[in-house]
Amino acid sequence: MAQLPETSFPKGEIKILLLENIHPSANELFSVEGFQVERVSGALKEDELVERIRDAHVLGIRSKTRVTARALDEARRLLTVGCFCIGTNQVALAHANSRGIPVFNAPFSNTRSVAEMILAEVIALSRQLFDRSREVHDGTWKKIAVGSHEIRGKTLGIVGYGHIGRQIGVIAEVLGMRVAFYDIAARLPMGNNRAVGTLHQLLAESDYVTLHVPETPQTKGMIGPAEIAAMKKGACLLNASRGTVVDLDALAAALKKGDLAGAAVDVYPEEPETNSDGFASPLRGLANVILTPHIGGSTEEAQEAIGREVAAALIKYVNSGATTGAVNFPQVELPQARGTHRILNVHRNVPGVMRDITKIISDRGANIHAQQLSTDPDIGYLVVDLDQEVSHDVKDAISTLPTSIKTRILYAV
Ligand code: NAI
Repeated sequence: MAQLPETSFPKGEIKILLLENIHPSANELFSVEGFQVERVSGALKEDELVERIRDAHVLGIRSKTRVTARALDEARRLLTVGCFCIGTNQVALAHANSRGIPVFNAPFSNTRSVAEMILAEVIALSRQLFDRSREVHDGTWKKIAVGSHEIRGKTLGIVGYGHIGRQIGVIAEVLGMRVAFYDIAARLPMGNNRAVGTLHQLLAESDYVTLHVPETPQTKGMIGPAEIAAMKKGACLLNASRGTVVDLDALAAALKKGDLAGAAVDVYPEEPETNSDGFASPLRGLANVILTPHIGGSTEEAQEAIGREVAAALIKYVNSGATTGAVNFPQVELPQARGTHRILNVHRNVPGVMRDITKIISDRGANIHAQQLSTDPDIGYLVVDLDQEVSHDVKDAISTLPTSIKTRILYAV
């Protein structure tokens, strides 16, 4: 048998191209692995990207670089793309899928930042702090206690008890609030947080309602006139989830009538594309309404955490083939069986592929120590741990199958 190289692909030859000033926390992780990192401070236009991406194994971007189908076609060596942000629609995701390229993002690194902002706003709304501050800036001294409240003992209603909702529930309790939540999925309550059975029940009993649901067909317009009418008189509504969840005209009307005492809104049905575009909303100018420009998750700590979270996912994919968390790819994560080599194969999801692969393996008398297959409608992703003696031969044969899109071999995961 021919002498095998020491590692499947020398780590020092893996090239990472990071655009858009990705946080240095990502570099630190890549450097520990011994990967080559090239950094570009801004976003790249398609032509420049096509040039730079050609010999990259990993591409890291934020929200401004558009990774088009053409760029992906030119990127012959590209294994994976990391979006060092939350959104991924700047990448041609279906095309990346068809080329066997998983795309990762960082959906949860800014959880804490959103939670802290919401708690700050709950207090600010209860004390009308923004209005009092503006008045003093304008030279008006309005020292009043009427309409100002402590949050201690008040009920915070959380709609959507996921990553952010749970963090808020924990911190709110430390501040002395009662916490109730409503979620469509069964969620384990943290501390003394309490689940309630229906949205309307939650709205009816909460002094503050804060929304932390994803954008789905069910959450679109979820808080409309009927839901706002179901809220306690004098309650406050907070939305830092997605702009389509709340009917802003209905909210503005309830605030003007005095049915609600205040609101804090961070996300809008239509948001300006750039900082120089104007902003229109029925909520502008209303008393005790905090309007922020979608900054709930925008902190330096979140950027650092995003750098680490996405870099870790990319490294794991390069080193072991794990696709857990990829937004466009079948999910596979398999601990490597001892004394084996690992073959990773992305193939078109058509009948007969597994039969062909199994035949290749059995024709060579190779033993499968562990394997995992996951599919979506278009592709299948197979990870197989095999006897080391035949692994190269098997990998070469699998990669020549007409159904194969990408095939790699790893020695040590
Ligand atoms: P998550 O996925 O961890 O939690 C969402 C929760 O909502 C889940 O428990 C889910 O079961 C529940 N849910 C889904 N549909 C529901 C429905 N119809 N009724 C009640 N509950 C429902 O999400 P995470 O990380 O907590 O984020 C929540 C929202 O916050 C997302 O919309 C996200 O886009 C947004 N977000 C906003 C940021 C900002 O800067 N303002 C930053 C980060 C996230």
